Amino acid sequence: MADYETHEYDVLVIGAGGAGLRAAIESSALGARTGLVCKSLLGKAHTVMAEGGLAAALGNVYPQDNWRVHFRDTMRGGKMLNNWRMAQIHAQEAPDRVRELEEWGALFDRTPDGRILQRDFGGHRYARLAHVGDRTGLEMIRTLQQHAVHRGIDVYMECTITQLLKDGDRISGAFGYWRENGRFVVFRAKAVVLATGGLCKVFAINSNSWEGTGDGHALATWAGADMIDMECVQFHPTGMVWPLSVRGILVTEGVRGDGGTLRNINGERFMFNYIPPMFAAETADNEEEADRWYNDKVNARRTPDLLPRDEVARAINAEVKAGRGSPHGGVFLDIASRRDASYIQRRLPSMYHQFIQLADVDITRDAMEVGPTAHYVMGGVRVDAESTASTVPGLFAAGEVAGGMHGSNRLGGNSLSDLIVFGRRAGMGAAEYASSLSSLPALNSSEVDAAAAEALAPFDGNGKENPYTIHRELQDTMQSLVGIIRNEGELQQARARLEEFRERAKNVTVEGNRQYNPGWHLALDLRSMLTVADLITRGAIERKESRGGHTREDYPNPDAHFGTVNIVQSLKDGELTWRQEPLPEMPADLKELFEEDH
Ligand code: FUM
Repeated sequence: MADYETHEYDVLVIGAGGAGLRAAIESSALGARTGLVCKSLLGKAHTVMAEGGLAAALGNVYPQDNWRVHFRDTMRGGKMLNNWRMAQIHAQEAPDRVRELEEWGALFDRTPDGRILQRDFGGHRYARLAHVGDRTGLEMIRTLQQHAVHRGIDVYMECTITQLLKDGDRISGAFGYWRENGRFVVFRAKAVVLATGGLCKVFAINSNSWEGTGDGHALATWAGADMIDMECVQFHPTGMVWPLSVRGILVTEGVRGDGGTLRNINGERFMFNYIPPMFAAETADNEEEADRWYNDKVNARRTPDLLPRDEVARAINAEVKAGRGSPHGGVFLDIASRRDASYIQRRLPSMYHQFIQLADVDITRDAMEVGPTAHYVMGGVRVDAESTASTVPGLFAAGEVAGGMHGSNRLGGNSLSDLIVFGRRAGMGAAEYASSLSSLPALNSSEVDAAAAEALAPFDGNGKENPYTIHRELQDTMQSLVGIIRNEGELQQARARLEEFRERAKNVTVEGNRQYNPGWHLALDLRSMLTVADLITRGAIERKESRGGHTREDYPNPDAHFGTVNIVQSLKDGELTWRQEPLPEMPADLKELFEEDH
């Protein structure tokens, strides 16, 4: 019999980034007894690493902006694979959520007449990102955290959830352990909200914090939830490329939004050679025209440096492959020749310090070397757009762990706004569901015992395998075989290797005891990473086309059929199954937006 402590809630929120905090605030405001669990310390979630801003059609800089234009940009950026209703709700509600953050104390940068300033980002027709220099995520978390703490929400820090618990088909809580002392804990709950963020730690070059191990994606899969479009992974075009120790760290798109340009080793602004037909009408196709847009202070987005991320990442990849890359295997990003030092230091303080301290490069004088880095997964738990309910009763999901909102490619800035729009809706959906249950679902003690035994298995391994070795090999496999450009042969090789890793992982052994033991933590995170790597790879095999963040060199174009389906994966009798299901049909009045020029 496992030894564990127990806590009871109406709603348990797992993850204390933007989505989790916002969900917990809403659920508690609606009267649900709410607990919030996070893997790291409160205030350290990956959201704090979000830099450039949150997208919302406030119309402060361009009065002609409105939710319809934002909706259309989001759908086009996602190559129409988005759940249209999620994209609509997001575009309609983001402005109110931003104003709410301001009411709760967030200090945004201001226009000269005192309104919230908005900056340009790729794929957004108008300057739309509310921001705080390049530290927007930090300000957002500070604000939400303060609000949550003042509401008196119970917060459990440094706690990893390793399994969701079920009573029959429905959720009954979650099992986990305290990272500090290794003791077990059971949270009984009527409803659980997953707000666990992303998974890009499965790739060798990534922008994610240590928590991005796909825990929520894996927990949902193991609980039987439908997962959609897991093959759609975003490679942000500009991560740092050196020193190697910091390779992949995010260089905000705000650098390009504020005038930075991309150049290859020959000094050419190569992006003019990579403008796709879909964006040709509104993108300057030569340097002179782009400079005119820039000098007239009209929408900087019209330069091809600010095309959606999938386009820019592929272009950089192609330049490097063609031998026109920078000395460390990226390209140059230059803002110094366009903006003076005080502007750069004020608008991009983190970038300035990051490059001075980590690479000895002064970006007010010199160009940065940047290249694609695994940044975000668009796929995730299939949810109902209104309530964020998953296909498992009692399980809700918001933020990066949820799929659908961003289609096959997310526009920059749409993540932070997604967190607060759907975080709030998850809190509402979960609280409402919980209020429909008269008592807590039953706790199945044999399920808890099995979860405890599985968590302790690495202490009884046969000594053959080390979690760090498998993690490194997994990252290398995903990077080289399931990375930015994919093909059938390499994807099948990856699948075979993943099968080997899964077998080897059964023999993972850790030393020492349960008190703060990083090797043990990694051994448990590895279970999640192997599951999500499998979901990504199988989805990538099934989607035989190129769309957004999923590029197949053997199917280089979008395919009309695949543009109408989600790749849905779920666990049946312990095996992953996958199928294609039609996207929800967009109503006629929204379809018209794609024919008009708004
Ligand atoms: O480039 C950035 O600042 C990243 C923002 C985002 O991923 O939304």
